[in-house]
Amino acid sequence: MKIQNIEEYHSIYKQSVENPEQFWAEVARQFEWISPFSETLKWDFEKPDVQWFINGKTNITLNCLDRHLANHADKTALIWESNDPKEKEIRFTYARLHEEVCRMANVLKNNGVKKGDRVCIYMPMIPELTISVLACARIGAVHSVVFAGFSAHALADRIQDAQANVVITSDGLNRGTKEVAVKRVVDEALDSGCDSIQKVIVANRLGWTVDMTHGRDVFLHDELLKVNADCPAEPMDSEDMLFILYTSGSTGKPKGVVHTIGGYMVYAGYTFDTVFQCGEKDIFWCTADVGWITGHSYLIYGPLLNGATTLMFEGIPTYPDAGRFWQVIDKYGVTHFYTAPTAIRALMASGVDHVLGYNLHSLKLLGTVGEPINEEAWKWYHLHIGKGRCPIVDTWWQTETGGIMISAIGHFSPQKPAHAGLPLPGIQPVLLNNDGKEIKENEQEGYLAIRFPWPSIIRTTYGDHERCRLTYFSTYNNYYFTGDGARRDADGLYRIIGRVDDVINVSGHRFGTAEVENAINQNKKVVESAVVGFPHYIKGQGIYAFVVCEKIPESPDFTREEILETVTQEIGRIAKPDKIQFVTALPKTRSGKIMRRILRKVAEGDTSNLGDTSTLLDPLVVDEIVQGAI
Ligand code: PRX
Repeated sequence: MKIQNIEEYHSIYKQSVENPEQFWAEVARQFEWISPFSETLKWDFEKPDVQWFINGKTNITLNCLDRHLANHADKTALIWESNDPKEKEIRFTYARLHEEVCRMANVLKNNGVKKGDRVCIYMPMIPELTISVLACARIGAVHSVVFAGFSAHALADRIQDAQANVVITSDGLNRGTKEVAVKRVVDEALDSGCDSIQKVIVANRLGWTVDMTHGRDVFLHDELLKVNADCPAEPMDSEDMLFILYTSGSTGKPKGVVHTIGGYMVYAGYTFDTVFQCGEKDIFWCTADVGWITGHSYLIYGPLLNGATTLMFEGIPTYPDAGRFWQVIDKYGVTHFYTAPTAIRALMASGVDHVLGYNLHSLKLLGTVGEPINEEAWKWYHLHIGKGRCPIVDTWWQTETGGIMISAIGHFSPQKPAHAGLPLPGIQPVLLNNDGKEIKENEQEGYLAIRFPWPSIIRTTYGDHERCRLTYFSTYNNYYFTGDGARRDADGLYRIIGRVDDVINVSGHRFGTAEVENAINQNKKVVESAVVGFPHYIKGQGIYAFVVCEKIPESPDFTREEILETVTQEIGRIAKPDKIQFVTALPKTRSGKIMRRILRKVAEGDTSNLGDTSTLLDPLVVDEIVQGAI
């Protein structure tokens, strides 16, 4: 839906709120259905139970691939750029991608994968990753992509929770100058007990020799020799599961967010088209890893549903130097560039010299996602990358929402740094006050919630529906609660302030404080710990850990390293705390609750007013913590 101007936006928005079912039915009819849906929506936020496009049958790959073959078979669907700038790129036309997906789908079938089975994909950013995701969808298997930076332990947790039957992986991976033995991580995960796994399919990225377990492990290149490219798309119900994606919350282990086929397809396709407004010859580049929701929705599904050309990049923004993004943009004539504020801040910090050698003429539109973008980074992006002529879409959304919810649209929306902007047509956000009442006036701050379902709203948390209800639908009656705080300006533009729960957003990656604490506590020397976020110039938020050891470490640097290693083992390098302060006790109330408010202030370096500490069991603890602050 290409909305052309702000008046049109307001009129479509109004219709979408007045008659949402009609609005979404019309959007959904633009997709191909094997049999049409008989009812648009049934919903009940209390249970929660939300169903869209009821009784509709389709397969998302029919819409991503087959549908484009008649008129666009030779159009480039996917361009793959290696970590190594000297390695030649790979281009897949829609015809070739279709063929490769069908072949991969047959490999999965040959290896026992059936409709409804869960397939864990733990792979670097290589074409086989995109092909594997689509191959699962082709045969009705549920993909669960796990970011290849997670540790063996974290991978095992996710495999066990999803009860996956198969893992697809690679021998190793290349990122910048680093090489990682990916298959070895899988072996370690499976050695720790993942009984559901029957097969491991190994793609060859680096040509390494890897240990293969007889009867369980197979090489993808061998398996591909055994199949042809004939694989009809499995007819799927609109509400069948498409994928599980694990994300962190404020309590417990990461949860498997479940998205279903019809609603996710409609929403990923609709939002890609509406927000980015790609033209026929445009080249879209989303820098996110497919291990995160952004990679799912805007590297793979959104662009392919719209017959666009999508770029997949294996490397990192700073290899071989901090000009790599800009070099890739010039190389392919990228028109739409979608990245995270943390990447922008890191590149900004390495100096504008790295941008100067590139002309960036091809760019038409820039996007950001994952965390609030500060004004300084917004302006730098606008001026040095967009050359003052490209609009920026600051897109707010979540793993649970499946697609973009609040954002500027194309070229005409008001541009206000650090503001995500207006809701997309069909989305009904509200700000709630402490009593759970809607704040009607503008220029107010509140808890961001959504009062009406949209097609790709989270359906459940895999294996634990009650957790889904408690996390998102019980805080405020009859609202989906986002966990974010936001502010509306005088014109109704939303500014996302950040999480109001115990979730920390580090470089756009979500971690629960409890999750990081549990990891730290696995270290034998640690008695307990408390983790809070603090403002970090590059990462947005950093992780500050207050740690109580059995005895005060004689060599704090050594113990710190040991703790970092424990966190790397338990979760992965991405969750390593930036600061660790050893303390003799944590500030607790008489009922044993940690007063995080105080710890947050200490971590922020603002100890001038710590508020009321009278309910603390031992107020002296606070003095020690303040004095030892890093
Ligand atoms: O706090 C919000 C922040 O990221 C959270 C969602 O994280 P995740 O599920 O990992 O998805 C990230 C990619 C969609 C949100 O609750 N967030 C996401 N986008 C923005 C944002 N905060 C401010 N502005 C954004 N544009």
